[in-house]
Amino acid sequence: MEFTVAIDGPAAAGKGTISKAVAAHFGFAHLDTGLLYRAVGAKVLDGVEPIEAARNLTPSDLESEALRTSDIAQAASKVAVISEVRAALVAFQRTFAQQDTGAVLDGRDIGTVICPDAAVKLYVTASPECRAERRYLELSAKGHDVTRDGVLADVKARDARDSGRAEAPMRPAEDAILIDTSDMTIEEAVARAIEAIEAVRA
Ligand code: CDP
Repeated sequence: MEFTVAIDGPAAAGKGTISKAVAAHFGFAHLDTGLLYRAVGAKVLDGVEPIEAARNLTPSDLESEALRTSDIAQAASKVAVISEVRAALVAFQRTFAQQDTGAVLDGRDIGTVICPDAAVKLYVTASPECRAERRYLELSAKGHDVTRDGVLADVKARDARDSGRAEAPMRPAEDAILIDTSDMTIEEAVARAIEAIEAVRA
């Protein structure tokens, strides 16, 4: 039976880790929808026009580890304000959500626009400073040349662009469960998410 979990929230709040853990726990398929926007952003940095890039995206475009840089994150949030770019990515996301195994999609507008009928909606957040510190540690562990201040500026600029845009702005759906991970360990945040899903599945 179709069962969709929508997980939204700002950059580096823990959505990705929670989504992967939830998918593994329940056997759901997982789509990190940010990768779609990152892949379009990466193509734009290579000189492709954004709408054309979004319309011609293929699943193999999502596989590169190189999509995780701060430059591509910024490029992603710039293409994400373009309504034709968002429209070109809707069908892929909705089809993914309809799998028999159940699916978890994480992003900014999953509970509000892509899957407004999702069985469970979570909005995962944390203070900008916590999120920047986590992203700084993650990127520097991977060998990226980043500074704490630079990552904090990136996170704040994207938060402002993502929540201020006219099309599908980042915001919690009215029926979303809020999880603030600022003072939680990752295990606590994952347990909270699993508990919320189990309450609906029972
Ligand atoms: O991993 P992180 O939370 O830093 O970012 P991401 O989820 O990879 O998303 C990168 C950018 O794509 C975001 O800053 C948004 O501008 C955009 N995005 C979006 O507009 N809608 C989504 N469903 C997912 C991402």
